[in-house]
Amino acid sequence: MSVGIRFDGEALTGREGQTIAGVLLSGGHRTWRDAAGQERGIFCGIGICQDCIVTVNGVEGVRACQRTACDGDVVERETRA
Ligand code: FES
Repeated sequence: MSVGIRFDGEALTGREGQTIAGVLLSGGHRTWRDAAGQERGIFCGIGICQDCIVTVNGVEGVRACQRTACDGDVVERETRA
């Protein structure tokens, strides 16, 4: 079964059970956060480094590597100084 999310307006499709990071990576994205001008994406993959944080359905600071993608999720890039 597939799940559909939107990332900064782009429609992406993943597999049920995939993390948001997994859906973003499979959609060709390697980075999805701006940290003081440096692009960040997945680093540790286990919820420790917080490099992968995104806003999901209006909630900031969600770890993309830990959050399972749900059909209809709206994911937005975060920019932090
Ligand atoms: S990649 Fe390190 S917390 Fe998600």
